[in-house]
Amino acid sequence: MLVILKRNAEEISLQAAQLVASAVRKNPALALGLATGSTMVSVYKQLVALHQQGSLDFSRVVTFNLDEYLGLPAAHPQSFHHFMHENLFAHVNVNPGNIHIPDGTIGGDYDQYCASYEQAIRQAGGIDLQLLGIGRNGHIGFNEPTSSIGSRTRLKVLSKETLDDNAKSFAPGEESPRCAITMGIGTILEARKVLLLAAGASKSSAVAKSIEGPVASAVSASALQLHPDVTFIIDDAAASQLTQRDYYLRVLEMTALLTPDRLR
Ligand code: F6R
Repeated sequence: MLVILKRNAEEISLQAAQLVASAVRKNPALALGLATGSTMVSVYKQLVALHQQGSLDFSRVVTFNLDEYLGLPAAHPQSFHHFMHENLFAHVNVNPGNIHIPDGTIGGDYDQYCASYEQAIRQAGGIDLQLLGIGRNGHIGFNEPTSSIGSRTRLKVLSKETLDDNAKSFAPGEESPRCAITMGIGTILEARKVLLLAAGASKSSAVAKSIEGPVASAVSASALQLHPDVTFIIDDAAASQLTQRDYYLRVLEMTALLTPDRLR
């Protein structure tokens, strides 16, 4: 596990965008796992800027989003389809046929649909690089506390904390979705490389538990301790409850000297 400490959200997004861009340049047909949410907005802004400067080509990149709200059509302003279109896909040359986002409007056989999403990931050769945010309750994707560490893409009931956080994005009086389709923790753990981004004091407890706490289903992101190549990119506020900060800084210094490619 590599912990990259940054001063603020802007530095996080620059670092994350740089790592994603390097991965795409090394492998133009990268299978890229994507997240939505406020933390990702500036990452996508940076990626769009790199594309517009002519230095980043998405034409062969294949994308898989983590999750989508159940019941929201793609055109709904709060759907993750809409988020991805507005923040990334409309501004880069990704092939629409290479975009995968769970369909929130499927009715009926959820298990079959989720199995087909997993199958699409396998057909693409697995996810090379997965971007993650983290919820205040430690969720990754919509794997709420007590999700099985081996879980796969499935229908998931959202927790009270997540519902409260999400309610802020919906119009007053509008009911926000209670369920989502999400990749499982087991699905995420199979990505070859994982980048988790966290900014702000509201994430500090979840970040500390995920990095320094025991691996526990009560904190889904703690399962990333089992992953062989995970990088946490976190700002000062989100890092404020970590006890080993000096060590992470020393590791960063040595990484910059010995294996600088891990940072760029
Ligand atoms: C979104 C997702 C969620 C968010 C998390 C953090 O696709 O999977 O796990 O990454 O809730 O959201 P923000 O960045 O809005 O704090």
